[in-house]
Amino acid sequence: MANTHCPQVIGVASGKGGVGKTTVAVNLSVALAKAGKRVALLDADMGLANAQIAFGSRSPFNVSHLLSGDKTLREIMVRTDDGVMLIPGASGRRDMAGISDTDINTIIQACDDVADDFDFLIVDVAAGISPSVMMFLAACHRRFIVLRDDPSSIADAYGTIKVMTLELGLEEIYLIPNMATSQASGWQLFKRMNEVCTRFLGRSVNYLTSVESDDLIFSALRKYKPVLSFAPASSGSRDFRRMAQLSIDLPSASQAHGHAQFFFQRLLDAEQGA
Ligand SMILES: Nc1ncnc2c1ncn2[C@@H]1O[C@H](COP(=O)(O)OP(=O)(O)O)[C@@H](O)[C@H]1O
Ligand SMILES: [Mg+2]
Repeated sequence: MANTHCPQVIGVASGKGGVGKTTVAVNLSVALAKAGKRVALLDADMGLANAQIAFGSRSPFNVSHLLSGDKTLREIMVRTDDGVMLIPGASGRRDMAGISDTDINTIIQACDDVADDFDFLIVDVAAGISPSVMMFLAACHRRFIVLRDDPSSIADAYGTIKVMTLELGLEEIYLIPNMATSQASGWQLFKRMNEVCTRFLGRSVNYLTSVESDDLIFSALRKYKPVLSFAPASSGSRDFRRMAQLSIDLPSASQAHGHAQFFFQRLLDAEQGA
Protein backbone atom coordinates (compact mmCIF):
# COMPACT_ATOMS: atom_id res chain seq x y z
CA MET A 1 0.00 0.00 0.00
CA ALA A 2 2.87 2.34 0.78
CA ASN A 3 3.78 2.70 -2.87
CA THR A 4 0.23 3.10 -4.11
CA HIS A 5 -0.34 6.56 -5.48
CA CYS A 6 -3.38 7.96 -3.77
CA PRO A 7 -4.21 11.67 -4.10
CA GLN A 8 -5.50 13.27 -0.94
CA VAL A 9 -8.67 15.25 -1.53
CA ILE A 10 -9.37 18.03 0.97
CA GLY A 11 -12.55 20.13 0.88
CA VAL A 12 -12.32 23.60 2.44
CA ALA A 13 -15.66 24.89 3.73
CA SER A 14 -16.85 27.45 6.24
CA GLY A 15 -20.59 27.87 6.52
CA LYS A 16 -20.38 31.66 6.44
CA GLY A 17 -18.64 33.57 3.66
CA GLY A 18 -15.83 36.04 4.24
CA VAL A 19 -14.08 34.05 6.98
CA GLY A 20 -11.04 33.12 4.88
CA LYS A 21 -12.00 29.95 3.04
CA THR A 22 -10.36 30.92 -0.24
CA THR A 23 -7.34 32.29 1.60
CA VAL A 24 -6.88 28.94 3.34
CA ALA A 25 -7.49 26.87 0.18
CA VAL A 26 -5.06 28.94 -1.90
CA ASN A 27 -2.27 29.25 0.66
CA LEU A 28 -2.51 25.63 1.78
CA SER A 29 -2.14 24.65 -1.89
CA VAL A 30 0.89 26.90 -2.33
CA ALA A 31 2.51 25.63 0.88
CA LEU A 32 2.00 22.03 -0.24
CA ALA A 33 3.50 22.84 -3.65
CA LYS A 34 6.48 24.51 -1.98
CA ALA A 35 6.90 21.34 0.10
CA GLY A 36 7.37 19.45 -3.17
CA LYS A 37 3.86 18.07 -3.57
CA ARG A 38 1.95 18.11 -6.84
CA VAL A 39 -1.18 20.10 -6.10
CA ALA A 40 -4.38 21.01 -7.90
CA LEU A 41 -6.96 23.45 -6.58
CA LEU A 42 -10.54 23.13 -7.77
CA ASP A 43 -12.43 26.39 -7.38
CA ALA A 44 -15.88 24.97 -6.70
CA ASP A 45 -17.28 28.25 -5.39
CA MET A 46 -19.40 28.57 -8.52
CA GLY A 47 -20.83 31.98 -9.08
CA LEU A 48 -18.34 33.70 -6.79
CA ALA A 49 -15.15 32.05 -7.96
CA ASN A 50 -12.22 34.09 -6.69
CA ALA A 51 -9.30 31.70 -6.35
CA GLN A 52 -8.00 33.11 -9.65
CA ILE A 53 -7.82 36.55 -8.11
CA ALA A 54 -5.97 35.28 -5.05
CA PHE A 55 -3.40 33.62 -7.35
CA GLY A 56 -3.22 36.59 -9.69
CA SER A 57 -3.71 34.22 -12.58
CA ARG A 58 -5.85 34.80 -15.62
CA SER A 59 -7.39 31.92 -17.42
CA PRO A 60 -9.38 32.04 -20.63
CA PHE A 61 -11.43 28.99 -19.69
CA ASN A 62 -13.13 27.63 -16.59
CA VAL A 63 -15.44 24.85 -15.46
CA SER A 64 -18.34 26.29 -17.45
CA HIS A 65 -16.39 25.32 -20.60
CA LEU A 66 -15.88 21.84 -19.19
CA LEU A 67 -19.60 21.50 -18.50
CA SER A 68 -20.60 22.79 -21.92
CA GLY A 69 -18.36 20.10 -23.42
CA ASP A 70 -16.16 22.63 -25.23
CA LYS A 71 -13.00 21.88 -23.26
CA THR A 72 -11.43 19.08 -21.27
CA LEU A 73 -10.25 19.51 -17.71
CA ARG A 74 -6.63 19.59 -18.86
CA GLU A 75 -7.51 22.39 -21.28
CA ILE A 76 -9.08 24.60 -18.63
CA MET A 77 -6.35 24.07 -15.99
CA VAL A 78 -3.76 26.78 -15.56
CA ARG A 79 -0.40 26.58 -13.81
CA THR A 80 -0.13 29.45 -11.34
CA ASP A 81 3.16 31.27 -10.65
CA ASP A 82 3.32 29.29 -7.41
CA GLY A 83 3.26 25.92 -9.16
CA VAL A 84 -0.31 24.99 -8.28
CA MET A 85 -2.56 23.70 -11.05
CA LEU A 86 -5.75 25.76 -10.79
CA ILE A 87 -9.07 24.52 -12.08
CA PRO A 88 -10.83 27.88 -12.40
CA GLY A 89 -14.40 28.34 -11.27
CA ALA A 90 -17.01 30.13 -13.34
CA SER A 91 -16.98 33.61 -11.85
CA GLY A 92 -20.00 35.84 -12.24
CA ARG A 93 -21.96 33.23 -14.15
CA ARG A 94 -25.31 33.21 -12.45
CA ASP A 95 -26.30 29.95 -14.08
CA MET A 96 -23.30 28.31 -12.38
CA ALA A 97 -24.51 29.20 -8.90
CA GLY A 98 -27.37 26.75 -9.22
CA ILE A 99 -25.19 23.93 -10.51
CA SER A 100 -26.93 20.56 -10.99
CA ASP A 101 -26.01 17.17 -9.53
CA THR A 102 -25.13 15.97 -13.02
CA ASP A 103 -22.73 18.89 -13.45
CA ILE A 104 -21.07 18.18 -10.12
CA ASN A 105 -20.63 14.56 -11.11
CA THR A 106 -19.09 15.65 -14.41
CA ILE A 107 -16.56 17.80 -12.53
CA ILE A 108 -15.76 15.02 -10.06
CA GLN A 109 -15.31 12.50 -12.89
CA ALA A 110 -13.06 14.88 -14.79
CA CYS A 111 -10.89 15.32 -11.69
CA ASP A 112 -10.73 11.55 -11.37
CA ASP A 113 -9.27 11.36 -14.88
CA VAL A 114 -6.29 13.56 -13.97
CA ALA A 115 -5.76 12.02 -10.53
CA ASP A 116 -2.41 10.46 -11.38
CA ASP A 117 -0.88 13.88 -11.88
CA PHE A 118 -1.40 14.98 -8.26
CA ASP A 119 -0.62 14.27 -4.63
CA PHE A 120 -3.28 16.67 -3.34
CA LEU A 121 -6.53 18.08 -4.66
CA ILE A 122 -7.83 21.02 -2.64
CA VAL A 123 -11.47 21.97 -3.21
CA ASP A 124 -12.66 25.51 -2.36
CA VAL A 125 -16.41 25.02 -1.92
CA ALA A 126 -19.06 27.76 -1.72
CA ALA A 127 -20.37 29.15 1.57
CA GLY A 128 -23.59 27.77 3.00
CA ILE A 129 -25.07 24.31 3.28
CA SER A 130 -26.69 23.91 -0.13
CA PRO A 131 -26.95 20.40 -1.62
CA SER A 132 -24.20 21.23 -4.14
CA VAL A 133 -21.80 22.26 -1.34
CA MET A 134 -22.57 19.02 0.46
CA MET A 135 -22.05 16.96 -2.69
CA PHE A 136 -18.57 18.37 -3.11
CA LEU A 137 -17.76 17.91 0.58
CA ALA A 138 -19.03 14.34 0.56
CA ALA A 139 -16.76 13.60 -2.40
CA CYS A 140 -13.64 14.64 -0.47
CA HIS A 141 -11.58 12.44 1.79
CA ARG A 142 -11.48 15.03 4.53
CA ARG A 143 -12.97 18.40 5.26
CA PHE A 144 -11.34 21.53 6.70
CA ILE A 145 -13.85 23.92 8.25
CA VAL A 146 -12.60 27.50 8.47
CA LEU A 147 -14.18 29.60 11.18
CA ARG A 148 -13.65 32.84 13.06
CA ASP A 149 -14.27 33.59 16.68
CA ASP A 150 -17.49 35.51 16.10
CA PRO A 151 -21.05 34.36 16.79
CA SER A 152 -22.27 34.13 13.20
CA SER A 153 -19.20 32.27 11.96
CA ILE A 154 -19.45 29.85 14.88
CA ALA A 155 -23.18 29.30 14.28
CA ASP A 156 -22.68 28.69 10.55
CA ALA A 157 -19.69 26.39 11.06
CA TYR A 158 -21.78 24.41 13.55
CA GLY A 159 -24.66 24.24 11.04
CA THR A 160 -22.28 22.91 8.39
CA ILE A 161 -20.85 20.30 10.76
CA LYS A 162 -24.35 19.28 11.78
CA VAL A 163 -25.46 18.58 8.20
CA MET A 164 -22.18 16.82 7.38
CA THR A 165 -22.30 14.54 10.39
CA LEU A 166 -25.98 13.88 11.11
CA GLU A 167 -27.37 13.93 7.57
CA LEU A 168 -24.41 12.68 5.55
CA GLY A 169 -22.48 10.67 8.11
CA LEU A 170 -19.21 12.32 7.10
CA GLU A 171 -16.12 11.98 9.22
CA GLU A 172 -12.61 13.40 8.98
CA ILE A 173 -13.69 16.94 9.86
CA TYR A 174 -10.93 19.33 10.95
CA LEU A 175 -11.46 22.83 12.31
CA ILE A 176 -9.22 25.69 11.18
CA PRO A 177 -9.73 28.76 13.37
CA ASN A 178 -8.76 31.75 11.22
CA MET A 179 -7.88 35.33 12.09
CA ALA A 180 -7.04 34.12 15.59
CA THR A 181 -5.27 36.49 17.97
CA SER A 182 -2.87 33.65 18.85
CA GLN A 183 -2.48 29.90 18.36
CA ALA A 184 -3.71 29.48 21.94
CA SER A 185 -6.93 31.41 21.30
CA GLY A 186 -7.52 29.38 18.12
CA TRP A 187 -7.14 26.20 20.14
CA GLN A 188 -9.63 27.55 22.71
CA LEU A 189 -12.15 28.21 19.92
CA PHE A 190 -11.67 24.63 18.70
CA LYS A 191 -12.21 23.27 22.22
CA ARG A 192 -15.46 25.21 22.63
CA MET A 193 -16.76 24.04 19.25
CA ASN A 194 -15.74 20.48 19.92
CA GLU A 195 -17.61 20.48 23.24
CA VAL A 196 -20.76 21.72 21.53
CA CYS A 197 -20.45 19.13 18.76
CA THR A 198 -19.84 16.34 21.24
CA ARG A 199 -22.77 17.37 23.41
CA PHE A 200 -25.39 18.12 20.76
CA LEU A 201 -24.32 16.00 17.80
CA GLY A 202 -22.67 13.15 19.64
CA ARG A 203 -19.66 13.60 17.33
CA SER A 204 -16.26 15.08 17.98
CA VAL A 205 -14.30 17.05 15.42
CA ASN A 206 -10.54 17.32 14.94
CA TYR A 207 -8.11 20.18 15.25
CA LEU A 208 -5.46 20.89 12.66
CA THR A 209 -3.98 24.31 13.37
CA SER A 210 -5.02 27.94 13.57
CA VAL A 211 -4.16 30.84 11.28
CA GLU A 212 -3.41 34.02 13.14
CA SER A 213 -4.64 37.38 12.02
CA ASP A 214 -1.97 38.86 9.76
CA ASP A 215 -2.34 42.13 7.85
CA LEU A 216 0.09 40.83 5.25
CA ILE A 217 -2.51 38.23 4.21
CA PHE A 218 -4.82 41.07 3.29
CA SER A 219 -1.99 43.08 1.66
CA ALA A 220 -1.03 40.01 -0.40
CA LEU A 221 -4.55 39.71 -1.76
CA ARG A 222 -4.44 43.34 -2.85
CA LYS A 223 -1.32 42.48 -4.84
CA TYR A 224 -3.01 39.37 -6.29
CA LYS A 225 -0.50 37.09 -4.61
CA PRO A 226 -0.70 34.30 -2.02
CA VAL A 227 0.93 35.48 1.22
CA LEU A 228 3.50 32.69 0.93
CA SER A 229 4.91 34.38 -2.16
CA PHE A 230 4.27 37.97 -1.08
CA ALA A 231 5.67 37.72 2.46
CA PRO A 232 7.27 34.30 3.10
CA ALA A 233 8.56 35.34 6.53
CA SER A 234 5.18 36.56 7.82
CA SER A 235 3.23 34.84 10.57
CA GLY A 236 0.55 33.94 8.04
CA SER A 237 3.08 32.14 5.84
CA ARG A 238 4.43 30.30 8.87
CA ASP A 239 0.90 29.18 9.79
CA PHE A 240 0.20 27.90 6.26
CA ARG A 241 3.51 26.02 6.14
CA ARG A 242 2.55 24.33 9.41
CA MET A 243 -0.91 23.52 8.04
CA ALA A 244 0.66 21.95 4.95
CA GLN A 245 3.06 19.82 6.98
CA LEU A 246 0.25 18.64 9.26
CA SER A 247 -1.84 17.80 6.17
CA ILE A 248 1.04 15.79 4.72
CA ASP A 249 1.37 13.94 8.03
CA LEU A 250 -2.31 12.92 8.23
CA PRO A 251 -2.99 9.27 7.41
CA SER A 252 -3.41 8.76 3.67
CA ALA A 253 -6.87 8.75 2.15
CA SER A 254 -6.96 5.01 1.74
CA GLN A 255 -6.87 4.73 5.52
CA ALA A 256 -9.15 7.70 6.20
CA HIS A 257 -12.87 7.21 6.70
CA GLY A 258 -15.19 9.14 4.44
CA HIS A 259 -17.53 8.93 1.54
CA ALA A 260 -14.88 9.60 -1.03
CA GLN A 261 -16.09 9.73 -4.57
CA PHE A 262 -13.22 11.66 -6.03
CA PHE A 263 -10.77 9.01 -7.15
CA PHE A 264 -13.10 6.38 -5.80
CA GLN A 265 -12.41 3.87 -8.54
CA ARG A 266 -8.70 4.37 -8.12
CA LEU A 267 -8.95 3.65 -4.40
CA LEU A 268 -10.82 0.45 -5.11
CA ASP A 269 -8.18 -0.57 -7.64
CA ALA A 270 -5.45 0.22 -5.13
CA GLU A 271 -7.11 -1.85 -2.46
CA GLN A 272 -7.60 -4.79 -4.79
CA GLY A 273 -3.98 -4.61 -5.86
CA ALA A 274 -2.74 -4.49 -2.27
N1 LIG B 1 -5.67 35.26 8.80
C1 LIG B 1 -6.04 36.40 8.17
N2 LIG B 1 -5.54 37.58 8.56
C2 LIG B 1 -5.92 38.73 7.94
N3 LIG B 1 -6.79 38.80 6.90
C3 LIG B 1 -7.31 37.64 6.46
C4 LIG B 1 -6.97 36.38 7.05
N4 LIG B 1 -7.65 35.40 6.40
C5 LIG B 1 -8.37 36.02 5.44
N5 LIG B 1 -8.18 37.36 5.47
C6 LIG B 1 -8.84 38.36 4.60
O1 LIG B 1 -10.25 38.24 4.77
C7 LIG B 1 -10.92 38.49 3.56
C8 LIG B 1 -11.87 37.34 3.21
O2 LIG B 1 -11.10 36.19 2.92
P1 LIG B 1 -11.56 35.11 1.83
O3 LIG B 1 -10.51 34.05 1.85
O4 LIG B 1 -11.85 35.75 0.52
O5 LIG B 1 -12.90 34.59 2.48
P2 LIG B 1 -14.00 33.54 1.93
O6 LIG B 1 -13.40 32.76 0.82
O7 LIG B 1 -14.33 32.71 3.14
O8 LIG B 1 -15.17 34.37 1.50
C9 LIG B 1 -9.84 38.74 2.51
O9 LIG B 1 -9.65 40.13 2.35
C10 LIG B 1 -8.59 38.11 3.13
O10 LIG B 1 -7.39 38.72 2.70
MG1 LIG C 1 -14.00 32.56 -1.16
